[in-house]
Amino acid sequence: MNIASYPSLKDRTVVVSGGGSGIGEQIVRRFAEQGSRVGFLDIAKDASEALVSELGDNVMFQQCDVTDIDALRASLANIADAFGPVTVLVNNAAHDERHKLEDVTPEYWDGRIAVNLKHQFFAAQAVAQGMKEAGHGSIINMGSTSWMVGQGGMAAYTASKSAVLGLTRSLARDLGPYNIRANSIAPGWIMTERQESLWLTEEGEKELMERQCLKRKLVPDDIARPVLFFASDESGACTNQSYVVDGGWT
Ligand SMILES: NC(=O)c1ccc[n+]([C@@H]2O[C@H](COP(=O)([O-])OP(=O)(O)OC[C@H]3O[C@@H](n4cnc5c(N)ncnc54)[C@H](O)[C@@H]3O)[C@@H](O)[C@H]2O)c1
Repeated sequence: MNIASYPSLKDRTVVVSGGGSGIGEQIVRRFAEQGSRVGFLDIAKDASEALVSELGDNVMFQQCDVTDIDALRASLANIADAFGPVTVLVNNAAHDERHKLEDVTPEYWDGRIAVNLKHQFFAAQAVAQGMKEAGHGSIINMGSTSWMVGQGGMAAYTASKSAVLGLTRSLARDLGPYNIRANSIAPGWIMTERQESLWLTEEGEKELMERQCLKRKLVPDDIARPVLFFASDESGACTNQSYVVDGGWT
């Protein structure tokens, strides 16, 4: 497969949260191919360490639960110490656990917001100063089309993912004067191993193929490649936007 090459991404320090598996892993791989220095955060140790050994010295893993904001800040600082100021941030970590309306407690609600939304703000806050000093930056927040298509059974997840849009627009406004861009990408249904093993059914796939304009299942690379574009200088005037990548479902 021919992949675009983005000279502006070479040697750039990139952080990807949730980079140990799924879409985040593919994003890490694609940035590594571009010659970026990639730091990624994940709670999953074994898969993440295997990825680092495969990709080599320009990729570094920090084991970190992104809901622990002190740990998140420390991990981001470690990456900046090793690789230089972070000028691309991909806020990708999330957890799409389903929950029945009647089972949700205040503590559970707060936990879902913490894993799906809160860390995106604090990661952006933590890297902002380095981006200002560098004179540029690109923040890419992973949203979701789940709330746009009216998905039930995961109200705390959909609430978080719709809030990513507002968060992105406020970051774009506050950081734009420093030439720091903020965009979000809202994936449709992307067939990671987790999605295929946990949630994909025959009926679900049939419905998806009816609803999508494109009649193929989308894969992590369908997200990773637009992420490269929004991180690179090719999208230098794009900020304050959310881009849907869903094969035309919504
Ligand atoms: N796959 C889809 O269909 C789909 C659809 C819409 C949006 N998205 C969004 O795309 C992003 C990636 O999705 P995915 O399907 O690859 O997810 P995934 O669940 O397959 O992977 C998420 C990664 O984040 C890590 N992670 C989870 N909780 C963490 C925590 N507390 N601290 C650190 N790391 C943690 C996991 O270990 C995993 O490596 C998410 O933001 C998700 O909401 C995915």
